Amino acid sequence: MASQNHPPDQTTPGVTDRYARPLQDLRISLTDRCNFRCTYCMPRELFGSEHLFLPRRELLDFEEIERLARIAAGLGVTKLRLTGGEPLLRRDIDVLIARLAAIDGIDDICLTTNGSLLTEQRARELKAAGVNRVTLSLDAIDDDVFKAINDVGYPASKVLTAIDNAKAAGLTPVKVNCVIQRGVNEDQILPMAEYFRHSDVVLRFIEFMDVGTSNGWRMEEVVPAREIVETIRTRHAISRLPANVPGETANRWVYDDGAGEIGIIASVSQPFCGGCTRARLSAIGELYTCLFGVHGRDLRTPLRSGASDDELRALLSGIWAARDDRYSEQRGEETANRRGDADGKVEMSYIGG
Ligand code: GTP
Ligand code: 5AD
Ligand code: SF4
Ligand code: SF4
Repeated sequence: MASQNHPPDQTTPGVTDRYARPLQDLRISLTDRCNFRCTYCMPRELFGSEHLFLPRRELLDFEEIERLARIAAGLGVTKLRLTGGEPLLRRDIDVLIARLAAIDGIDDICLTTNGSLLTEQRARELKAAGVNRVTLSLDAIDDDVFKAINDVGYPASKVLTAIDNAKAAGLTPVKVNCVIQRGVNEDQILPMAEYFRHSDVVLRFIEFMDVGTSNGWRMEEVVPAREIVETIRTRHAISRLPANVPGETANRWVYDDGAGEIGIIASVSQPFCGGCTRARLSAIGELYTCLFGVHGRDLRTPLRSGASDDELRALLSGIWAARDDRYSEQRGEETANRRGDADGKVEMSYIGG
């Protein structure tokens, strides 16, 4: 693969959008399917046996994904995140990962997973193929609470085993995403924090966001970052850390007693659009310039109708240059109490978060 690559294009400066934000991260959704039915993401009533998932032939194949990733790398992308749905449901992704890892300019390949397929061996294979690190989703440490959220009866203990598998394989730093919803799992903040202290795992609490239209989001269900911090502080002293990289999603915190780091992703109460360098590619090749986008731009048609690399590069950089998305900031400006259910936004399980 590397031999077919163009040499890195040193003459093309990275592309920036209308707010001077560079394109640096590409999040690639490999499938819209998932074996969980988290109530806030793929509620059973809407994602039941009647639901039409994307047919396989519609999906970008590995060659197409690699080509787009290579072109994106030429425009400044250094970080790739593989998402779903559940990305480990896509067959043979090690083959894709090895191809992505060989792209000049890509220095970080991460994967976001629910952990249900992350056996010891699978974790080792992913590492060998070129994944640097993984992020697992776990919304509760208590089995009953977690089973009620994932709605397939999957126990938290098995995700904890998957986390250990990821650590053992060196897919580090392992991060754990925990979406907090009022009335559902805010009682899990302290038990989750307790479990991951001294573990080298970076636990990140996420404010429940109004992504898509399926989850019936209401502002009252958001537990704001400030309250999460206060909850942790009832038990442990924590202090703010500076950002690792500009535009990072998580506010970083550290336990004063040396028990490690935690993060809070406060996209609702403290939006971070100003530093947002992320583009998202759907499994069928639509490019979304915001998680809250309604329409993606179709890249598959040009890919499949013979567009050259130069043409694709021009298309991609044109889309990014025209970008003016700042949804989370606007949400706060418009109204603090809006239901996010009437405007056709793309679903989280479709675009991968
Ligand atoms: P790191 O590189 O490890 O910091 O990962 P990340 O935080 O970029 O990605 P991850 O998939 O772990 O995302 C964590 C949470 O942040 C998810 O709930 C995402 O949906 C949310 N998130 C990620 N990127 C964005 C974004 O651009 N906008 C908003 N509003 N939320 C985002
Ligand atoms: N709000 C916040 N986070 C969400 N995720 C899925 N839906 C939402 C939502 N509405 C999380 C998943 C996963 C990550 C990619 O996004 O739990 O950890
Ligand atoms: Fe749950 Fe993630 Fe699957 Fe959505 S994609 S149902 S959040 S495991
Ligand atoms: Fe980026 Fe859109 Fe999220 Fe703002 S809301 S940080 S622009 S993806």
